[in-house]
Amino acid sequence: PAPHRIQDRNVVDAVEVGAKLAGLANGTLDFENTPDTDPDLPGNRAWGREIVNKMVGSTLGADSVAAALIHTEDELNKVVETAVAASDSWVAMGAVARAAILHRAGVTLEARRAELLEVMGSECGKTLDQGDPEVSEAIDFAHYYAQRGLELDSVEGATFVPSKLTVVTPPWNFPVAIPAGSTLSALAAGSSVIIKPAGQAARSGAVMIEALWEAGVPRDVLQMVQLSERDLGTELVSHPAVDRLILTGGYETAELFRSFRKDLPMLAETSGKNALIITPNADLDLAAKDLAASAFGHAGQKCSAASLVVLVGSAAESKRFHNQLIDAARSLKVGYPQDPQTQMGPVIEAAQGKLLRGLTVLGEGEKWVLEPKQLDDSGKLWSPGVRSGVKRGSEFHLTEYFGPILGVMTAETLEEAVAIVNDIDYGLTSGLHSLDSDEMAYWLENIQAGNLYINRGTTGAIVQRQPFGGWKKSAIGAGTKAGGPNYLVGMGSWEDAPLAK
Ligand code: ALA
Repeated sequence: PAPHRIQDRNVVDAVEVGAKLAGLANGTLDFENTPDTDPDLPGNRAWGREIVNKMVGSTLGADSVAAALIHTEDELNKVVETAVAASDSWVAMGAVARAAILHRAGVTLEARRAELLEVMGSECGKTLDQGDPEVSEAIDFAHYYAQRGLELDSVEGATFVPSKLTVVTPPWNFPVAIPAGSTLSALAAGSSVIIKPAGQAARSGAVMIEALWEAGVPRDVLQMVQLSERDLGTELVSHPAVDRLILTGGYETAELFRSFRKDLPMLAETSGKNALIITPNADLDLAAKDLAASAFGHAGQKCSAASLVVLVGSAAESKRFHNQLIDAARSLKVGYPQDPQTQMGPVIEAAQGKLLRGLTVLGEGEKWVLEPKQLDDSGKLWSPGVRSGVKRGSEFHLTEYFGPILGVMTAETLEEAVAIVNDIDYGLTSGLHSLDSDEMAYWLENIQAGNLYINRGTTGAIVQRQPFGGWKKSAIGAGTKAGGPNYLVGMGSWEDAPLAK
């Protein structure tokens, strides 16, 4: 079948649906009755890879990811102007109609699950077990922010004025869920969005974006760009018409972007160096399992990954725990995601610099409990590594590596363990394994991190249940958390409504 300009038709559908669904406003939308995706539409299963390669680009008429590449400042200005001009109609559409479109995005994303899994695997090395919950997270964001957008609109006595234009710069490591969450939050609040998917994840981002267009988000309201020059990135984030930036990436990148335009409101989730503390009062079997998953899931390439474990007191002596951790790490089947049996995939680029050092060089007093091995010539495929003897204040203690390496530290007491973790400049996620309520209370009171998990791993925050965001150098513009009730408030400002007549 010929590709349809489906987004135009779906705007109408969605508005009609929105108008009919009075129940939407009080949260009773029945997803079962959301119009289904036409099986003949592009992007659905049968089209598979073909559509990924033909991906439709931005409003400028681009018909592939490559054609969404912006080469000049003039082209960039045109994208910005188009998005700003479209923002009034997006606001005028009203919160109910916008929410209907976003709920429908949950459906169109689901329809592309297989395609998203494939492209995330080939582009970013995501294994199926990691990619599948990521698609679910993107879908959760769609439904969740749709609902929060309605609430924002129904606050009595005040009017929410959304940003006109939000720029979204997501990372490659969650190539679907993070760009989707950031984009959907701004759209739900009523803002236009220009998104620049990470270069390594351009096609994953593009498939996600097409699902949103297909659901009815107008193309002028949501535009995707890639930029041919670094300078154009500077132009984009310092453009005077941009009034909000949502960035997920390294702390240095966030600081750099902030230096371009200091007055630009920014929501940035940045780096992490996260630790799991395990006390002698823990269920050590569960702790070993959670630790291995948090350290080596997606080859440790998560801002939320546990790259340190601090063993308290006699927990450090447990042979059983030690053996379980090493067995768990050693038994991971390392490979490429195209093999469905792969449990740990490659790192995104051939290991070099800081990561290569982390994989190969021991600090003073450290030793390999499990030495990482390079498994092929690509430089990307490494078996997981565990080093013990990591000293307080050492490079390994304080550095984010973003790879499959775990450092083991020890502490005499929980107080010391907490102090060790709090030495770190970042504060994104933190974990405690203990069944003792006093230890839990102490840890909760004193640990410095945005997301705190007890008797659970440090990764895999669930939308609505575990709103996600950091503290210290893990966030800029903190105060609201992604997937939480206040996030949309960060997408605009309040104006007092005129007095009712
Ligand atoms: N939100 C992602 C997680 O929790 C980063 O692992």
